[in-house]
Amino acid sequence: MSFYLATFASRQFRNLAGSPFQLHPRFNVFFGENGQGKTNLLEAIYYLFTLRPLRPVRPKDLMAWGMADARVQGDVQGRVLRKLAVTFSRNKRQITVNGAPPLQLDDYFDGTHVVAFTPEEIQLVRGAPELRRRFLDRAVFNTDITYLREVRQFLRILSHRNALLKQDNIDSAFLDVINQQFVELGVQIITRRIALLSRLRVHMKEAYARIFPDLQIDVEMHYQSSIRELPKLQGDRTFEELTEEVTQRFVAYLQRVRTRELDRRKTMLGPQQDDIAFVFGGKPFKQTASQGQTRALVLALKIAEIREIEMRTQQAPLLLLDDVAGELDPRHSAYFFQFLEETDGQVLLTTTDLDYIRLPDIQLYPRFRLEKGEIH
Ligand SMILES: Nc1ncnc2c1ncn2[C@@H]1O[C@H](COP(=O)(O)OP(=O)(O)OP(=O)(O)O)[C@@H](O)[C@H]1O
Ligand SMILES: [Mg+2]
Repeated sequence: MSFYLATFASRQFRNLAGSPFQLHPRFNVFFGENGQGKTNLLEAIYYLFTLRPLRPVRPKDLMAWGMADARVQGDVQGRVLRKLAVTFSRNKRQITVNGAPPLQLDDYFDGTHVVAFTPEEIQLVRGAPELRRRFLDRAVFNTDITYLREVRQFLRILSHRNALLKQDNIDSAFLDVINQQFVELGVQIITRRIALLSRLRVHMKEAYARIFPDLQIDVEMHYQSSIRELPKLQGDRTFEELTEEVTQRFVAYLQRVRTRELDRRKTMLGPQQDDIAFVFGGKPFKQTASQGQTRALVLALKIAEIREIEMRTQQAPLLLLDDVAGELDPRHSAYFFQFLEETDGQVLLTTTDLDYIRLPDIQLYPRFRLEKGEIH
């Protein structure tokens, strides 16, 4: 059974007036001119569910100008109704469930997931590799919460290793010890990323084909590693076989670059340098795909992430789609909305123009107009 946001209110959050309003369990459309508060509203809701900003900003930037604190609150209907609230200031955050602080953070989240799409996320395909690593790491973390700890441990070892490589007389026995941990943690990260990407790839391809059924162009994605000859996808290997194979390649390549690393005094391989490669009709996506095709790919990736969450948790995540149809032409946008209609769970959409929202049964769902931060 899925959860949904039943009511929402805020106080001193960006430009939002904040009066409480009720939401539909399925689709909710927020429309209005530029600069009225549509993105701010999604940002407030995202913050309520994740306690993180949607875009990389400081808590201070989420508060209305000149104010010292802000609040978001909402009733979330799941197995039971839970009243969530967060009051935060520059350096303090107070969260409550049904009016009382939860014993632990997990009680606050209670298995809810949110997937957001903002126009800036087109950078996921076009921008720096770091963005794709972050996407991948977050997606792995969504399936396994121990992953975050491993990544942190790995980064610690990596910085020890880099510090050691900078020294003049390197103790090679010590380097061997560090290398052992470096390989062990590095392999865990890479293997999980490859395994997850293999699963996401299937959903992504299916979703892309649904949005562009008329384009017979094949879209592919695979793991691109700094370690040569690494398996790009899991294929029909088991996780153990994949781990084994990645370990062998990692160790072999580590030996191969040893002199070069000592020479340049820095780490030259590992998951911190890896990337996702997107291939479109056999060519790198960045160079060949149009703006709309790129946006469709990012959407397809998001859909893949949703499918993965659904399969694992047996419940649909809340979907926040900011200005999503703007770049798609009417026909492809219709395919996309058709696709959305077949998913489960609650969806919140913003648009400057209601004509962009090609939901087959739009009249069944509430449309909220935003003007100067107020919802009408
Ligand atoms: N901290 C803040 N306090 C008060 N107002 C803010 C704050 N941050 C941004 N704003 C105002 O919020 C408005 C932008 O809101 P938002 O980004 O939600 O617009 P939008 O409706 O999504 O517009 P668009 O269609 O252009 O994306 C701007 O008018 C901006 O001045
Ligand atoms: Mg906006």
